[in-house]
Amino acid sequence: MIPSVIAPDFSGIPKLNELASRDFLAGLPKAELHLHLDGALSPALMFKLAQRNQVELPYKSIAEIEAAYQFTNLQSFLDVYYRGASVLNTEQDFYDLTRDYFAKCKADNVQHTELSFDPQTHTERGIAFATVISGILRAMADAKKDWGISAKLVMDFLRHLSAESAMKTLEESLPWKDKIIAVGLDSSELGHPPSKFTEVFARARTEGYRVVAHAGEEGPPSYIWEAIELLNVERIDHGVRCDEDAKLMDYLRETQIPLTVCPLSNVRLCVFDTMAEHNLFTLLDAGLRVMINSDDPTYFGGYLNDNYFALADAFPVTREQALLLAHHSFTSSFISDDEKLKFIGQLKNYANNFQ
Ligand code: ADE
Ligand code: ZN
Repeated sequence: MIPSVIAPDFSGIPKLNELASRDFLAGLPKAELHLHLDGALSPALMFKLAQRNQVELPYKSIAEIEAAYQFTNLQSFLDVYYRGASVLNTEQDFYDLTRDYFAKCKADNVQHTELSFDPQTHTERGIAFATVISGILRAMADAKKDWGISAKLVMDFLRHLSAESAMKTLEESLPWKDKIIAVGLDSSELGHPPSKFTEVFARARTEGYRVVAHAGEEGPPSYIWEAIELLNVERIDHGVRCDEDAKLMDYLRETQIPLTVCPLSNVRLCVFDTMAEHNLFTLLDAGLRVMINSDDPTYFGGYLNDNYFALADAFPVTREQALLLAHHSFTSSFISDDEKLKFIGQLKNYANNFQ
């Protein structure tokens, strides 16, 4: 079941052809649909938690942590990222991490977020599933109460681990299944095609989970086809390599399966050499349902608004294009149609009143 399409209608909104200023982009109500919580661990919090939990890191200062964030591909990033995640040990650590992320959502006018967590990164180190998810859920409840931010939780399986490990994680998650909207697939893509997880995803669907998967970030278009045909995904995370396969482009346009694109991530992981070479607007102009996300904001140089700004620095982004991207972010989410319409109303109201 692909998230419902609500046709964008911006008629009557003034200045649609004007270039979107930073102020316009910053204040735009938006949703984020591709965010790894472990990738929102700031160097400052990493350093603090390492001291609090007596975890040894190969860095002597926050500046040394930041200096280590030079990546040549996905794996070079993941090696640093999993080491960073080792400072997370207690329920309070997961709360603090998640709370930090929600504070950025508030600053960036993110009204709804679908954040993902990787339980295996932590359970493999002996941290209980309950410890991880309890801290995250407590922070989600507080963000709703304190800031009115709507959120849903996605559980990703690590694809470099076995299908048996993913199935065990799925079974461990079942007592929490009413708190988890979807399952996904992340980590080292090359050599770990979606087909490795066909049975796990079939079981997840019978348990009532929605399904997404990373595909076509570094992997070929055939991995995107596998995610669609074998895992029955409702959204593709990244998917930017779809433009190498004309049939796939047609299929994505016809079905409106969303692609959760992450511009800063793609440049930092050398999927594109420069932002000016990013294909987001090629995909948008071809009628694909793409939107902007931050992926791992503390590792890739920015949160959601920074991604909008980086694109606007490299491309002439009009108000209409920005509105369409934000519109896609709401309609591609796993909230109800009523909630989608409420957020779209806020989006139009914002654009109508912006000078
Ligand atoms: N885990 C965290 N960030 C990721 C990414 N960009 N691709 C795959 N797995 C990830
Ligand atoms: Zn990702």
